[in-house]
Amino acid sequence: MSDVEHLIGLLLGTEDDWPRAFETLLRRLGPVSDDAGDSHALRSVRVTIEPFNLRYQPRHSLVIDRLAYWYYVPREWLKKVAMMDDVYLLNSPFTFQSMEKHTAYCAMMRLGLKVPDTVLVPYKHPVDNARWAYTAKRYNQPFDLDEVAGTLGYPLYMKPFDGGAWVGVSKIRNSDDLHRAYDASGERLMHLQQSVEGYDVFARSLSIGPETMVMKFRPELPMHERYAVQHDFLSADTGFEVVTISRVVNAFFRWEFNSCETLVRGTDVCPIDYANACPDVALTSLHYYFPWAMAALLRWSVYCVVTGRKPRLDTDTRRYFDIADRTDLSYTDKLHEYRRLADEYFEADRYAEFCERHLGHVDDMVYDWVRSPDFDTLLRDTVRATYPPHEHDRFIAHFRGLIDLWINDRPAAVT
Ligand SMILES: Nc1ncnc2c1ncn2[C@@H]1O[C@H](COP(=O)(O)OP(=O)(O)O)[C@@H](O)[C@H]1O
Ligand SMILES: [Mg+2]
Repeated sequence: MSDVEHLIGLLLGTEDDWPRAFETLLRRLGPVSDDAGDSHALRSVRVTIEPFNLRYQPRHSLVIDRLAYWYYVPREWLKKVAMMDDVYLLNSPFTFQSMEKHTAYCAMMRLGLKVPDTVLVPYKHPVDNARWAYTAKRYNQPFDLDEVAGTLGYPLYMKPFDGGAWVGVSKIRNSDDLHRAYDASGERLMHLQQSVEGYDVFARSLSIGPETMVMKFRPELPMHERYAVQHDFLSADTGFEVVTISRVVNAFFRWEFNSCETLVRGTDVCPIDYANACPDVALTSLHYYFPWAMAALLRWSVYCVVTGRKPRLDTDTRRYFDIADRTDLSYTDKLHEYRRLADEYFEADRYAEFCERHLGHVDDMVYDWVRSPDFDTLLRDTVRATYPPHEHDRFIAHFRGLIDLWINDRPAAVT
Protein backbone atom coordinates (compact mmCIF):
# COMPACT_ATOMS: atom_id res chain seq x y z
CA MET A 1 0.00 0.00 0.00
CA SER A 2 1.47 3.34 -1.02
CA ASP A 3 0.28 6.90 -0.90
CA VAL A 4 -0.03 8.94 -4.07
CA GLU A 5 -0.78 12.64 -4.17
CA HIS A 6 -2.61 14.50 -6.91
CA LEU A 7 -3.12 18.19 -7.42
CA ILE A 8 -6.22 19.38 -9.28
CA GLY A 9 -5.87 22.85 -10.79
CA LEU A 10 -8.82 25.20 -11.19
CA LEU A 11 -8.33 27.77 -13.94
CA LEU A 12 -11.02 30.29 -13.12
CA GLY A 13 -12.63 33.48 -14.30
CA THR A 14 -15.11 35.49 -12.23
CA GLU A 15 -17.04 32.66 -10.60
CA ASP A 16 -16.59 31.68 -7.01
CA ASP A 17 -19.64 29.52 -6.27
CA TRP A 18 -18.89 26.16 -7.84
CA PRO A 19 -15.12 26.45 -7.18
CA ARG A 20 -15.86 26.84 -3.46
CA ALA A 21 -18.26 23.92 -3.65
CA PHE A 22 -15.74 21.76 -5.46
CA GLU A 23 -12.90 22.64 -3.08
CA THR A 24 -15.08 21.89 -0.05
CA LEU A 25 -16.24 18.55 -1.41
CA LEU A 26 -12.74 17.49 -2.40
CA ARG A 27 -11.55 18.29 1.13
CA ARG A 28 -14.45 16.41 2.69
CA LEU A 29 -13.88 13.42 0.41
CA GLY A 30 -10.52 12.56 1.92
CA PRO A 31 -8.23 9.87 0.45
CA VAL A 32 -9.58 7.54 -2.21
CA SER A 33 -8.34 4.00 -2.70
CA ASP A 34 -7.92 2.33 -6.06
CA ASP A 35 -8.40 -1.29 -7.13
CA ALA A 36 -4.85 -2.18 -6.09
CA GLY A 37 -5.46 -0.85 -2.58
CA ASP A 38 -3.22 2.20 -2.97
CA SER A 39 -4.40 5.36 -1.31
CA HIS A 40 -4.71 8.60 -3.26
CA ALA A 41 -4.75 12.01 -1.62
CA LEU A 42 -6.30 14.80 -3.69
CA ARG A 43 -5.87 18.52 -3.30
CA SER A 44 -7.02 21.44 -5.40
CA VAL A 45 -5.34 24.72 -6.14
CA ARG A 46 -6.41 27.80 -8.09
CA VAL A 47 -4.09 28.29 -11.03
CA THR A 48 -2.43 31.68 -11.36
CA ILE A 49 -1.23 33.23 -14.59
CA GLU A 50 2.42 34.10 -14.96
CA PRO A 51 5.29 33.73 -17.42
CA PHE A 52 6.19 30.08 -17.93
CA ASN A 53 9.12 28.29 -19.47
CA LEU A 54 7.87 25.87 -22.07
CA ARG A 55 10.00 23.14 -20.49
CA TYR A 56 8.88 23.66 -16.89
CA GLN A 57 6.96 20.81 -15.28
CA PRO A 58 3.57 21.66 -13.81
CA ARG A 59 2.51 20.16 -10.50
CA HIS A 60 -1.05 19.43 -11.61
CA SER A 61 -2.44 16.03 -12.57
CA LEU A 62 -5.67 17.51 -13.88
CA VAL A 63 -6.96 21.00 -14.64
CA ILE A 64 -10.55 22.15 -14.83
CA ASP A 65 -10.49 25.13 -17.15
CA ARG A 66 -13.05 27.94 -17.31
CA LEU A 67 -10.91 30.66 -18.80
CA ALA A 68 -8.99 29.59 -21.88
CA TYR A 69 -11.87 30.11 -24.26
CA TRP A 70 -11.43 33.85 -23.87
CA TYR A 71 -7.78 34.45 -23.02
CA TYR A 72 -4.63 33.50 -24.82
CA VAL A 73 -2.19 33.04 -21.94
CA PRO A 74 -4.19 30.35 -20.13
CA ARG A 75 -5.10 28.77 -23.45
CA GLU A 76 -1.48 28.47 -24.52
CA TRP A 77 -0.52 27.24 -21.05
CA LEU A 78 -3.15 24.51 -21.33
CA LYS A 79 -1.84 23.51 -24.74
CA LYS A 80 1.69 23.30 -23.34
CA VAL A 81 0.71 21.14 -20.34
CA ALA A 82 -1.45 18.93 -22.56
CA MET A 83 1.20 18.51 -25.23
CA MET A 84 4.24 18.09 -22.97
CA ASP A 85 3.16 16.97 -19.54
CA ASP A 86 0.08 14.73 -19.93
CA VAL A 87 -1.94 16.92 -17.60
CA TYR A 88 -5.52 15.72 -17.83
CA LEU A 89 -7.86 18.41 -19.19
CA LEU A 90 -11.61 17.92 -19.27
CA ASN A 91 -11.88 19.67 -22.65
CA SER A 92 -9.26 19.39 -25.34
CA PRO A 93 -7.97 22.95 -25.90
CA PHE A 94 -7.04 21.98 -29.44
CA THR A 95 -10.47 21.00 -30.66
CA PHE A 96 -12.14 23.79 -28.73
CA GLN A 97 -10.00 26.32 -30.52
CA SER A 98 -10.39 24.91 -34.01
CA MET A 99 -13.75 23.14 -33.85
CA GLU A 100 -16.12 25.92 -33.00
CA LYS A 101 -19.86 25.76 -33.46
CA HIS A 102 -19.54 25.67 -37.24
CA THR A 103 -17.34 22.57 -37.29
CA ALA A 104 -19.53 20.88 -34.72
CA TYR A 105 -22.53 21.49 -37.01
CA CYS A 106 -20.62 19.98 -39.92
CA ALA A 107 -19.53 16.95 -37.94
CA MET A 108 -22.97 16.23 -36.57
CA MET A 109 -24.60 16.70 -39.98
CA ARG A 110 -22.11 14.21 -41.36
CA LEU A 111 -23.20 11.77 -38.65
CA GLY A 112 -26.76 12.22 -39.87
CA LEU A 113 -28.12 14.16 -36.90
CA LYS A 114 -31.09 16.44 -37.44
CA VAL A 115 -29.24 19.75 -37.32
CA PRO A 116 -31.43 22.40 -38.99
CA ASP A 117 -30.30 23.51 -42.44
CA THR A 118 -27.55 26.10 -42.09
CA VAL A 119 -25.78 28.43 -44.55
CA LEU A 120 -22.51 30.24 -43.91
CA VAL A 121 -22.68 33.71 -45.44
CA PRO A 122 -19.53 35.74 -46.23
CA TYR A 123 -18.70 38.75 -44.06
CA LYS A 124 -20.65 41.92 -44.40
CA HIS A 125 -17.38 43.80 -43.86
CA PRO A 126 -14.37 41.66 -44.72
CA VAL A 127 -11.10 42.27 -42.91
CA ASP A 128 -9.45 45.53 -43.84
CA ASN A 129 -6.41 44.33 -45.73
CA ALA A 130 -5.16 45.37 -49.16
CA ARG A 131 -4.50 41.82 -50.35
CA TRP A 132 -7.91 40.69 -49.22
CA ALA A 133 -9.52 43.54 -51.15
CA TYR A 134 -7.77 42.31 -54.27
CA THR A 135 -8.77 38.69 -53.65
CA ALA A 136 -12.33 39.63 -52.83
CA LYS A 137 -12.66 41.72 -55.97
CA ARG A 138 -11.33 38.91 -58.07
CA TYR A 139 -12.98 35.87 -56.52
CA ASN A 140 -15.93 36.79 -54.29
CA GLN A 141 -19.13 36.02 -56.09
CA PRO A 142 -21.91 38.53 -55.62
CA PHE A 143 -24.84 36.95 -53.82
CA ASP A 144 -28.42 37.78 -53.08
CA LEU A 145 -29.01 37.55 -49.35
CA ASP A 146 -32.79 37.39 -49.83
CA GLU A 147 -32.40 34.43 -52.10
CA VAL A 148 -30.26 32.60 -49.54
CA ALA A 149 -32.86 33.27 -46.87
CA GLY A 150 -35.57 32.20 -49.28
CA THR A 151 -34.01 28.75 -49.69
CA LEU A 152 -34.08 28.28 -45.91
CA GLY A 153 -37.49 29.90 -45.35
CA TYR A 154 -38.57 32.30 -42.60
CA PRO A 155 -38.33 32.44 -39.68
CA LEU A 156 -34.65 31.75 -39.30
CA TYR A 157 -31.77 32.53 -36.99
CA MET A 158 -28.70 34.58 -37.75
CA LYS A 159 -25.85 33.78 -35.40
CA PRO A 160 -22.05 33.89 -35.27
CA PHE A 161 -20.38 30.79 -36.71
CA ASP A 162 -18.37 30.44 -33.51
CA GLY A 163 -20.78 32.01 -31.05
CA GLY A 164 -21.69 31.53 -27.44
CA ALA A 165 -23.72 33.22 -24.69
CA TRP A 166 -26.35 34.41 -27.21
CA VAL A 167 -24.07 37.19 -28.40
CA GLY A 168 -25.07 38.38 -31.87
CA VAL A 169 -27.97 35.90 -32.16
CA SER A 170 -31.15 37.23 -33.77
CA LYS A 171 -34.39 35.75 -34.93
CA ILE A 172 -35.16 36.81 -38.48
CA ARG A 173 -38.80 36.98 -39.49
CA ASN A 174 -38.61 38.80 -42.81
CA SER A 175 -36.35 40.52 -45.31
CA ASP A 176 -36.16 43.75 -43.27
CA ASP A 177 -34.92 41.85 -40.20
CA LEU A 178 -32.49 40.00 -42.42
CA HIS A 179 -30.82 43.09 -43.85
CA ARG A 180 -30.78 44.89 -40.53
CA ALA A 181 -29.08 41.94 -38.80
CA TYR A 182 -26.63 41.36 -41.65
CA ASP A 183 -25.66 45.05 -41.78
CA ALA A 184 -25.10 44.97 -38.02
CA SER A 185 -22.97 41.80 -38.22
CA GLY A 186 -20.03 43.86 -39.52
CA GLU A 187 -16.83 41.86 -39.32
CA ARG A 188 -18.44 38.90 -37.61
CA LEU A 189 -18.91 35.77 -39.69
CA MET A 190 -22.50 34.55 -39.60
CA HIS A 191 -24.66 31.51 -40.15
CA LEU A 192 -28.23 31.60 -41.27
CA GLN A 193 -30.11 28.68 -39.81
CA GLN A 194 -33.63 27.36 -40.20
CA SER A 195 -35.64 27.89 -37.06
CA VAL A 196 -37.12 24.88 -35.30
CA GLU A 197 -40.59 26.30 -34.80
CA GLY A 198 -43.17 25.03 -32.34
CA TYR A 199 -40.84 22.69 -30.49
CA ASP A 200 -42.27 20.78 -27.54
CA VAL A 201 -39.20 20.78 -25.31
CA PHE A 202 -35.93 22.68 -25.18
CA ALA A 203 -33.63 20.11 -23.60
CA ARG A 204 -30.36 21.39 -22.21
CA SER A 205 -28.05 18.63 -21.14
CA LEU A 206 -24.95 19.08 -19.09
CA SER A 207 -22.39 16.31 -19.44
CA ILE A 208 -19.43 15.70 -17.17
CA GLY A 209 -17.49 12.68 -18.34
CA PRO A 210 -19.95 9.80 -18.77
CA GLU A 211 -22.63 11.50 -16.66
CA THR A 212 -25.35 13.58 -18.29
CA MET A 213 -28.22 15.56 -16.80
CA VAL A 214 -30.97 16.47 -19.24
CA MET A 215 -32.86 19.51 -18.04
CA LYS A 216 -35.93 21.23 -19.37
CA PHE A 217 -34.84 24.71 -20.37
CA ARG A 218 -37.05 27.77 -20.88
CA PRO A 219 -34.95 30.37 -22.71
CA GLU A 220 -37.75 32.93 -22.63
CA LEU A 221 -37.66 33.26 -18.82
CA PRO A 222 -35.18 35.20 -16.64
CA MET A 223 -31.94 33.33 -15.89
CA HIS A 224 -32.95 32.07 -12.42
CA GLU A 225 -36.06 30.40 -13.84
CA ARG A 226 -34.68 28.91 -17.03
CA TYR A 227 -33.99 25.43 -15.71
CA ALA A 228 -37.35 23.91 -14.81
CA VAL A 229 -37.43 21.36 -12.04
CA GLN A 230 -39.27 18.67 -13.93
CA HIS A 231 -38.67 14.98 -14.42
CA ASP A 232 -39.76 12.53 -17.09
CA PHE A 233 -40.53 15.22 -19.66
CA LEU A 234 -39.13 13.08 -22.47
CA SER A 235 -40.14 9.59 -23.57
CA ALA A 236 -37.57 6.86 -22.90
CA ASP A 237 -36.52 6.76 -26.57
CA THR A 238 -36.19 10.51 -26.91
CA GLY A 239 -34.34 10.70 -23.61
CA PHE A 240 -31.86 8.11 -24.87
CA GLU A 241 -31.42 10.09 -28.08
CA VAL A 242 -30.75 13.38 -26.28
CA VAL A 243 -28.22 11.78 -23.93
CA THR A 244 -26.59 9.91 -26.79
CA ILE A 245 -26.21 13.02 -28.94
CA SER A 246 -24.63 14.88 -26.01
CA ARG A 247 -22.16 12.09 -25.30
CA VAL A 248 -21.35 11.50 -28.99
CA VAL A 249 -20.53 15.17 -29.62
CA ASN A 250 -18.31 15.10 -26.55
CA ALA A 251 -16.51 11.86 -27.31
CA PHE A 252 -16.07 12.90 -30.94
CA PHE A 253 -14.30 16.16 -29.99
CA ARG A 254 -12.78 15.03 -26.65
CA TRP A 255 -14.97 17.34 -24.63
CA GLU A 256 -15.86 16.13 -21.17
CA PHE A 257 -17.44 19.17 -19.54
CA ASN A 258 -19.88 20.58 -22.03
CA SER A 259 -23.53 21.43 -22.49
CA CYS A 260 -25.70 20.53 -25.44
CA GLU A 261 -28.94 22.17 -26.55
CA THR A 262 -31.50 20.15 -28.45
CA LEU A 263 -34.98 21.15 -29.54
CA VAL A 264 -37.45 18.27 -29.42
CA ARG A 265 -40.42 18.47 -31.75
CA GLY A 266 -42.63 15.38 -31.72
CA THR A 267 -40.16 12.53 -31.98
CA ASP A 268 -37.51 14.62 -33.78
CA VAL A 269 -34.47 15.67 -31.78
CA CYS A 270 -32.71 18.66 -33.37
CA PRO A 271 -29.35 19.65 -31.89
CA ILE A 272 -28.67 23.40 -32.24
CA ASP A 273 -25.82 24.30 -29.90
CA TYR A 274 -23.30 21.92 -28.44
CA ALA A 275 -19.86 23.51 -28.31
CA ASN A 276 -19.80 25.25 -24.92
CA ALA A 277 -16.29 25.11 -23.49
CA CYS A 278 -17.42 26.83 -20.35
CA PRO A 279 -20.92 25.51 -19.63
CA ASP A 280 -23.06 27.34 -17.11
CA VAL A 281 -22.80 25.63 -13.71
CA ALA A 282 -23.70 28.62 -11.56
CA LEU A 283 -25.58 27.83 -8.38
CA THR A 284 -28.08 30.54 -9.32
CA SER A 285 -28.74 28.93 -12.73
CA LEU A 286 -28.66 25.23 -11.91
CA HIS A 287 -30.06 25.48 -8.32
CA TYR A 288 -31.79 22.06 -7.91
CA TYR A 289 -29.27 20.44 -10.27
CA PHE A 290 -26.20 22.10 -8.72
CA PRO A 291 -25.50 19.28 -6.20
CA TRP A 292 -25.58 16.73 -9.01
CA ALA A 293 -23.17 18.82 -11.10
CA MET A 294 -20.72 19.10 -8.21
CA ALA A 295 -20.92 15.39 -7.42
CA ALA A 296 -20.34 14.50 -11.08
CA LEU A 297 -17.42 16.91 -11.43
CA LEU A 298 -15.87 15.45 -8.31
CA ARG A 299 -16.42 11.83 -9.37
CA TRP A 300 -15.07 12.26 -12.89
CA SER A 301 -12.00 14.27 -11.81
CA VAL A 302 -11.19 11.75 -9.11
CA TYR A 303 -11.72 8.83 -11.48
CA CYS A 304 -9.37 10.34 -14.06
CA VAL A 305 -6.49 10.99 -11.69
CA VAL A 306 -6.82 7.91 -9.50
CA THR A 307 -7.02 5.47 -12.42
CA GLY A 308 -4.34 7.39 -14.33
CA ARG A 309 -6.62 7.81 -17.33
CA LYS A 310 -4.53 9.14 -20.18
CA PRO A 311 -5.69 12.31 -21.92
CA ARG A 312 -6.59 11.77 -25.56
CA LEU A 313 -5.47 14.59 -27.80
CA ASP A 314 -6.09 12.59 -30.95
CA THR A 315 -9.57 12.14 -32.37
CA ASP A 316 -11.02 9.09 -34.07
CA THR A 317 -13.40 10.73 -36.49
CA ARG A 318 -12.95 7.96 -39.04
CA ARG A 319 -14.60 5.38 -36.80
CA TYR A 320 -17.65 7.63 -36.54
CA PHE A 321 -17.70 8.38 -40.25
CA ASP A 322 -17.46 4.69 -41.09
CA ILE A 323 -20.73 4.21 -39.21
CA ALA A 324 -22.25 7.34 -40.73
CA ASP A 325 -21.47 6.14 -44.24
CA ARG A 326 -23.08 2.73 -43.85
CA THR A 327 -26.22 2.35 -45.92
CA ASP A 328 -27.52 -0.71 -44.10
CA LEU A 329 -28.09 1.12 -40.83
CA SER A 330 -31.09 3.25 -39.90
CA TYR A 331 -30.78 6.53 -38.00
CA THR A 332 -31.56 4.70 -34.74
CA ASP A 333 -29.06 1.92 -35.50
CA LYS A 334 -26.40 4.55 -36.10
CA LEU A 335 -27.18 6.29 -32.82
CA HIS A 336 -26.62 3.02 -31.00
CA GLU A 337 -23.34 2.48 -32.81
CA TYR A 338 -22.13 6.00 -32.05
CA ARG A 339 -23.17 5.53 -28.46
CA ARG A 340 -21.03 2.41 -28.26
CA LEU A 341 -17.99 4.44 -29.36
CA ALA A 342 -18.84 7.24 -26.94
CA ASP A 343 -19.25 4.82 -24.02
CA GLU A 344 -15.97 3.21 -24.96
CA TYR A 345 -14.22 6.60 -25.01
CA PHE A 346 -15.66 7.52 -21.62
CA GLU A 347 -14.97 4.05 -20.16
CA ALA A 348 -18.58 4.13 -19.01
CA ASP A 349 -18.65 0.63 -17.50
CA ARG A 350 -15.30 0.95 -15.76
CA TYR A 351 -16.35 4.35 -14.42
CA ALA A 352 -19.63 2.97 -13.05
CA GLU A 353 -17.74 0.14 -11.34
CA PHE A 354 -15.14 2.50 -9.93
CA CYS A 355 -17.82 4.82 -8.54
CA GLU A 356 -19.59 1.92 -6.92
CA ARG A 357 -16.44 0.49 -5.35
CA HIS A 358 -14.57 3.62 -4.36
CA LEU A 359 -16.93 6.59 -4.47
CA GLY A 360 -20.16 5.05 -3.22
CA HIS A 361 -20.24 7.52 -0.35
CA VAL A 362 -20.10 10.67 -2.52
CA ASP A 363 -23.88 11.08 -2.86
CA ASP A 364 -24.40 10.93 0.91
CA MET A 365 -21.47 13.25 1.48
CA VAL A 366 -22.89 15.82 -0.95
CA TYR A 367 -26.31 15.39 0.63
CA ASP A 368 -24.95 16.10 4.11
CA TRP A 369 -23.03 19.11 2.90
CA VAL A 370 -26.02 20.63 1.07
CA ARG A 371 -27.96 20.43 4.35
CA SER A 372 -25.15 22.06 6.31
CA PRO A 373 -24.75 25.73 7.34
CA ASP A 374 -21.65 25.81 5.12
CA PHE A 375 -23.77 25.34 2.01
CA ASP A 376 -26.23 27.98 3.14
CA THR A 377 -23.35 30.44 3.56
CA LEU A 378 -22.26 29.66 0.01
CA LEU A 379 -25.80 30.20 -1.23
CA ARG A 380 -26.09 33.55 0.54
CA ASP A 381 -22.67 34.74 -0.61
CA THR A 382 -23.50 33.77 -4.19
CA VAL A 383 -26.82 35.58 -4.19
CA ARG A 384 -25.16 38.68 -2.73
CA ALA A 385 -22.51 38.59 -5.43
CA THR A 386 -25.06 38.10 -8.22
CA TYR A 387 -28.04 40.34 -7.46
CA PRO A 388 -28.52 43.96 -6.33
CA PRO A 389 -29.09 44.45 -2.56
CA HIS A 390 -32.84 45.00 -2.77
CA GLU A 391 -33.25 41.54 -4.32
CA HIS A 392 -31.08 39.57 -1.87
CA ASP A 393 -33.83 38.43 0.49
CA ARG A 394 -36.12 37.39 -2.33
CA PHE A 395 -33.48 35.36 -4.13
CA ILE A 396 -32.04 33.77 -1.00
CA ALA A 397 -35.55 32.51 -0.22
CA HIS A 398 -36.09 31.45 -3.84
CA PHE A 399 -32.93 29.34 -4.07
CA ARG A 400 -33.30 27.95 -0.55
CA GLY A 401 -36.73 26.72 -1.63
CA LEU A 402 -35.31 24.94 -4.67
CA ILE A 403 -32.50 23.40 -2.63
CA ASP A 404 -35.03 22.21 -0.03
CA LEU A 405 -36.93 20.60 -2.85
CA TRP A 406 -33.79 18.72 -3.86
CA ILE A 407 -33.18 17.69 -0.24
CA ASN A 408 -36.73 16.42 0.15
CA ASP A 409 -36.62 14.55 -3.15
CA ARG A 410 -33.68 12.50 -1.96
CA PRO A 411 -34.63 10.93 1.37
CA ALA A 412 -33.23 7.62 0.12
CA ALA A 413 -29.75 9.10 0.25
CA VAL A 414 -29.82 9.57 4.05
CA THR A 415 -27.68 7.03 5.80
N1 LIG B 1 -32.41 26.83 -35.23
C1 LIG B 1 -33.00 27.33 -34.16
N2 LIG B 1 -34.33 27.12 -33.95
C2 LIG B 1 -34.95 27.63 -32.85
N3 LIG B 1 -34.33 28.39 -31.94
C3 LIG B 1 -33.02 28.65 -32.09
C4 LIG B 1 -32.29 28.14 -33.21
N4 LIG B 1 -31.02 28.57 -33.11
C5 LIG B 1 -30.95 29.33 -31.99
N5 LIG B 1 -32.14 29.39 -31.38
C6 LIG B 1 -32.47 30.15 -30.14
O1 LIG B 1 -31.45 31.11 -29.92
C7 LIG B 1 -30.72 30.79 -28.73
C8 LIG B 1 -29.24 31.10 -28.93
O2 LIG B 1 -28.72 30.34 -30.03
P1 LIG B 1 -27.50 29.36 -29.83
O3 LIG B 1 -27.23 28.66 -31.11
O4 LIG B 1 -27.73 28.50 -28.65
O5 LIG B 1 -26.31 30.39 -29.58
P2 LIG B 1 -25.27 30.56 -28.37
O6 LIG B 1 -24.13 29.69 -28.73
O7 LIG B 1 -24.93 32.01 -28.40
O8 LIG B 1 -25.95 30.08 -27.12
C9 LIG B 1 -31.01 29.31 -28.46
O9 LIG B 1 -30.87 28.99 -27.11
C10 LIG B 1 -32.45 29.21 -28.92
O10 LIG B 1 -33.34 29.74 -27.95
MG1 LIG C 1 -26.87 28.26 -26.76
